[in-house]
Amino acid sequence: MVGRAITFALVGLEPRRVEVEAHVRGGQSTFSIVGLADRACQEAKHRVRSGVHSSRLAWPGEVITVNLAPAALRKEGSGFDVAIALTVLASSGQVPADRLAEHACIGELGLDGRVRPVTGTIAAAEGAARAGFTRLLCAADSSREAALAGIEAVGVRHLAEAVGYLRGEDEIAPTAPEDGSRHPPRLPDLADVRGQERGRRALELAATGAHNLLLAGPPGTGKTMLGRRLPSILPPLTREEALEVTRIHSVAGTLPPGAGLIMAPPFRSPHHGASAAAIVGGGTVPRPGEVSLAHRGVLLLDELPEFPRSVLEALRQPLEDGVVSVARVGGRALFPARFRLVATMNLCPCGGRGDARLQCSCTPARITAYREKVSRALLDRFDLVVAMPRPRAEELAAGPSETSAAVRARVTDGSLRLRSALPRRTAAASELLDRAVDRLPLTGRGRARVARLARTVAALAGSADVLPEHVAEALSYRAPAALTSA
Ligand SMILES: Nc1ncnc2c1ncn2[C@@H]1O[C@H](COP(=O)(O)OP(=O)(O)OP(=O)(O)O)[C@@H](O)[C@H]1O
Ligand SMILES: [Mg+2]
Repeated sequence: MVGRAITFALVGLEPRRVEVEAHVRGGQSTFSIVGLADRACQEAKHRVRSGVHSSRLAWPGEVITVNLAPAALRKEGSGFDVAIALTVLASSGQVPADRLAEHACIGELGLDGRVRPVTGTIAAAEGAARAGFTRLLCAADSSREAALAGIEAVGVRHLAEAVGYLRGEDEIAPTAPEDGSRHPPRLPDLADVRGQERGRRALELAATGAHNLLLAGPPGTGKTMLGRRLPSILPPLTREEALEVTRIHSVAGTLPPGAGLIMAPPFRSPHHGASAAAIVGGGTVPRPGEVSLAHRGVLLLDELPEFPRSVLEALRQPLEDGVVSVARVGGRALFPARFRLVATMNLCPCGGRGDARLQCSCTPARITAYREKVSRALLDRFDLVVAMPRPRAEELAAGPSETSAAVRARVTDGSLRLRSALPRRTAAASELLDRAVDRLPLTGRGRARVARLARTVAALAGSADVLPEHVAEALSYRAPAALTSA
């Protein structure tokens, strides 16, 4: 007898339909899984067998062959367990095959038959919905996540519960789709930052137009402080963006158990000891890196020159394309990576440079070595470079500054304007930009980035045109010569 169930495998974020077939025939009891199953998937044999026993169901004592089709697709992980168990039970007549055929299944089994959530459930659920399924059997803890895909998610805690439901003995109400918390997390507020008007302005521009920002200056001037406050002035994600972000975090396994939609723009701040794979993504089973986990949000690289140069160079491609492409057997996995990069650095290893009251003790060779960690090509990708001076005593003694909520209101208006009608450059503004190409000089990328930043300046000013003053402000944020040479 042959049993059948449908589940979904992921290639990056993309769901692929997998048909699970179980064939049972007479002979001495054996259990094999074929169809390019990796080790974790092969181990399903033990979990499935033990799970079936723990559910007080009968294990067919014959030759059982489970095939995962298509055979050319690599099957990774433990998410096939539930589908395999139910297929075996259907092939031995313990679960009605026609009821099982109405459901897609996903989930890992414990040895005691418990159904556990797996990474990427929302992406698999989207695949099931697209393939025409109206119901998905999954772990109870991931049913909120699965329901976001617009499918009726039937959450179960135990294999026995799934069997009872398929036999029509128990009713399980599908989980209703719901959004994540409407209450934004409490974030550090811009009101704490004294002085640093230029840094604050740059932060507002970075938030509005999704620009990359480099804060450079002596220690203790508020660079890290300011960078950490960028999330507090970002508008909430649109529903489309929230789904995208939730999908990435689900696949990466960074979604909290039982979570719904991620509504707040993500904030990631990896340590400089992190590997290139951890930052950019990849691996044999491709996983999203920090750049993708920061998609639609903020990636803070604190103390930029402390990151290995190889890691920084690996950032260049995602910064340009907004996507990471990981080559793998049988295709490519694509992970979106549109994030605002905020980086901080000192102007020299001892930190004395840039502060008139401090004596820099670095040799020119040390300064050169420090600056060379950050390539010109990477610097070229920062639209906003700001030198942060030491705040003056009266600035530090002043009362609280403007709050994040007030800035966020302007950012929201500006980004809506950028989405609805892009401000257009006047002839005079274009002329100023052209002159800057030779004078500064600007690279082709630099010119395009200045043009884009000038649009953001115009949008924040509520102007339908990009005027020369907007281009002039955008130009003032290009990396100063002091950073590119010692
Ligand atoms: N502009 C400022 N307004 C208010 N407090 C500040 C400011 N600058 C620094 N501070 C205080 O100093 C502390 C250190 O600031 P922060 O960590 O941002 O410095 P930094 O510029 O990142 O220095 P480093 O280069 O050493 O990393 C802050 O936690 C804050 O208490
Ligand atoms: Mg710092």
